[in-house]
Amino acid sequence: MRIEPFRMERLQSTYENYVDYNLSESGVQPMRARDLLQQAGGAEPFLSAELGYIQSNGTEELRDRIAAFYAGAVRDNVLVTNGGSEANYTAFWSLLERRDRVAFMLPNYLQAWGLARAFGSAADAFRLVPRREGNATRWALDVESLRRAVTRKTRVILVTNPNNPTGAILTEEEMEEIVRAARTSGAFIVADEIYRGAEISGTTTPTFWGRYDRVLITSGLSKAFGLPGLRIGWVVGPAALVKRLWSCRDYTTIAPAVLSDYLARIALEPERREAIFARTRSIIRTNLPVLESWMRARADVFGYVPPQAGAILFARYTLPLGSVALVETLRVEKSVLIVPGDQFGMARHIRIGFGSDTDYMRRGLARIDETLAGLPGKRRVARRGLSPEVRRAARGASS
Ligand SMILES: Cc1ncc(COP(=O)(O)O)c(C=O)c1O
Repeated sequence: MRIEPFRMERLQSTYENYVDYNLSESGVQPMRARDLLQQAGGAEPFLSAELGYIQSNGTEELRDRIAAFYAGAVRDNVLVTNGGSEANYTAFWSLLERRDRVAFMLPNYLQAWGLARAFGSAADAFRLVPRREGNATRWALDVESLRRAVTRKTRVILVTNPNNPTGAILTEEEMEEIVRAARTSGAFIVADEIYRGAEISGTTTPTFWGRYDRVLITSGLSKAFGLPGLRIGWVVGPAALVKRLWSCRDYTTIAPAVLSDYLARIALEPERREAIFARTRSIIRTNLPVLESWMRARADVFGYVPPQAGAILFARYTLPLGSVALVETLRVEKSVLIVPGDQFGMARHIRIGFGSDTDYMRRGLARIDETLAGLPGKRRVARRGLSPEVRRAARGASS
């Protein structure tokens, strides 16, 4: 099987630990093992844990705690994976046959785009688009594009909600539109809900779980929980299908790491889970205004729709160079890493992560300013549509 490079992860994997300012992260400043252990019986039981294999789909206690985050779910609905990325990988590997098509929300984290084109036959984009409603603008579901993308050949509809990179949250009506499209075509919904819990409003985003019988939720501890280093993710779905996915994992990583499962059980205890979300939201609420005022002071260059969740801001810009070239210039000249919009399927955009320490972010932004000052005259750029890669795919270039 051939699989195209996952460009965004390649960029981050290669450079994120070698730049002075890494503003490419989408999560918040990570928690420490100590923060969790202090709240749950101290370090001793953790240090005494035997480093053996554990129950390979996750311990029963961990699966119970994950299930408690989804009304009506029980442990048999849950498979624990190594990160949200393995949850997506397992879901797509298990669901797709060679001729299947995937309807894919854009802009988006493009892991499942690559998986769809490798395991299935094609990915058909539907879009979130900026829409003015009252006196605010939000990223709204383009229902027409959803209707075009979902056909009888569609096996999976992929949504990321809250969305990466826009931080948008679907409305109830939009969620129902997606369920309706899935019902009509018989497709599965794979809902990547890894940013659920990181809402600025403080209200946890409604889940797709329970709205339709062919739903798989993929998620994990890396974003809203601020625990990416634990590499704990999960799939929640119908018990029989989850059992099938479990057997796929016999070929990937077999089981979660015992120490990660231990700490994940602490993080997912319902009251602690909410306290962790409160920490995440407080970081976001502190840093977003700083980034927004930086953006507003450069309104000749940047425009953006405010995010509703996540520590990420997706901005369009009017500079005379493509997003990959802009990001490369910032990295090479100023040792700052951000993510090009092209790697989410959108040209002439960048994503800036603001979940780090506030002063660190301010210093990173000051470096970006130095590059902006040195760039040739800005110009209005008419085309800000899909990235060239995605446009090629939409014209039918094969996977
Ligand atoms: C939408 C989405 N899903 C999955 C992942 C991967 O998560 P993990 O680090 O838990 O594998 C990411 C990481 O950025 C993401 O943004």
